[in-house]
Amino acid sequence: METSKRGQWGSSFGFLMAAIGSAIGLGNLWAFPYKMGKTGGFAFLVLYLILVALVGVVGMLGEFALGRKTGKGAGGAYAALGKKYSFIGWMAVISPFLILSFYAVLGGMVLRYCLGFLVQIFGADGFAGQGSGFFGWLLYSGQSMILFFALFLVCTMAIVMGGVQGGIEKFSKAVMPALGVILIGIIIFVAMQPGALEGYKFMFKPDMSLFSSPGSFFDVLKTASGQVFFSLSMAMGINITFGSYLDKQKSLQKNAVIVPLFDTIFAVLAGMMILPACAAFHVDYAQGPGLLFASMQKVFLDGMGGQAGNIIGFLFYFLVFIAAVTSSIALMEVLTSAVVDRQLDKGKEPNRKKTALLFAVLQFLIGIPVALDALGSGGAVVKAPYELLGLTTESAGFAMWNDCWLDFYDMLTEGIMMPLGALLMSLLMGWVFPNLVKDECEQSGHQFKGAGYFKFCFRFVIPIIMVIVLITQIQSFFL
Ligand code: PFF
Repeated sequence: METSKRGQWGSSFGFLMAAIGSAIGLGNLWAFPYKMGKTGGFAFLVLYLILVALVGVVGMLGEFALGRKTGKGAGGAYAALGKKYSFIGWMAVISPFLILSFYAVLGGMVLRYCLGFLVQIFGADGFAGQGSGFFGWLLYSGQSMILFFALFLVCTMAIVMGGVQGGIEKFSKAVMPALGVILIGIIIFVAMQPGALEGYKFMFKPDMSLFSSPGSFFDVLKTASGQVFFSLSMAMGINITFGSYLDKQKSLQKNAVIVPLFDTIFAVLAGMMILPACAAFHVDYAQGPGLLFASMQKVFLDGMGGQAGNIIGFLFYFLVFIAAVTSSIALMEVLTSAVVDRQLDKGKEPNRKKTALLFAVLQFLIGIPVALDALGSGGAVVKAPYELLGLTTESAGFAMWNDCWLDFYDMLTEGIMMPLGALLMSLLMGWVFPNLVKDECEQSGHQFKGAGYFKFCFRFVIPIIMVIVLITQIQSFFL
């Protein structure tokens, strides 16, 4: 089978677990709460949920159908529809490239916290004498940032090289439920802390004031839409590739609902853990990419304290690390398999190990600014984009693309390439190949439900939202 020659997930790698494993990761635990914290709580949550239903479920079905119909990964799938569409597939390869470079920096930080708590269990100090202020210290510790970033990349690369995803799959079947349980445990602990209520209000109390100003409405819409792509691993070739391995008997529609559903549950749970914790332990909601680390450190060290805090802290970060690795291997796999496929097409013997190594080195190089700019806190070894632009933390404003290198890479992918990819994909599914999704869904003997809804979303809703997102993104350069 070609699949085994390409050395990808292979048929034993349970489709749903693989798709859920790739979807649930730092996007849910780290990005969702900080983006909600930065852009206004309830308004973000509502827009996010609407976008999951309109863009997430529909777009995911489109990608699954495209993959299964053509039996190809992203590059090949679009080319199979017509040579002139192959650039869409290539765009879907550039995004994982940029995303993995910052994903691994964050994964490295998770690893650092995990080791810190492990050491503390054995009585030593795992946080350089900084306690709950460790995050601020770590950001400026270039050596640690680089070391753990590299370590995370090496873990990802080793798995992709060795093709031991089978093992990871079994592991992640245990990890996802365990992560769910520990999240709920921490949520309950945080709920009992004085002051936590404000966090729930921030998330769930209807507050439409944001919608009274069109500028901030569009900003929140843009951020929420980027987050949907990131969290559901959309417009990155992942879902197309998964679809290409899906058995023709399986219901595409069911999978396109289950994956976003689980993913969203995990994101909301992470929000319910972090935002009330911020309220109880006086951490600024709007502080940006450091929110998870800063708030959880207070929960484990100051809230729980002692050995209980060390053990729960270790378990938490260990599970987050595994969730992040199951996502990062998917990201590196898209890149590696794109090259391996091309080598096979040209009749060359593919070299998967060399390819994975090459990508890991490139990821490392482009991730260096992300690891060394102290997430834009200012005055670090590498200047953040706003500093290069001659702005200060105050004057940089809400733009959320020039705050730090991480936000800049995020803007290029979630802000531009992914909406553009989704726009083109839905135009193709809505107008150029209007029966592709329906035929592919019915192929397994399942009835295609909600045909009118899907058609309307592909033709109008997704394209319109994507155009708004793109315009908002372009405008934000001139803020
Ligand atoms: N969806 C993952 C997350 O939320 O953490 C990130 C991700 C994984 C994006 C794999 C893209 C991808 F191909």
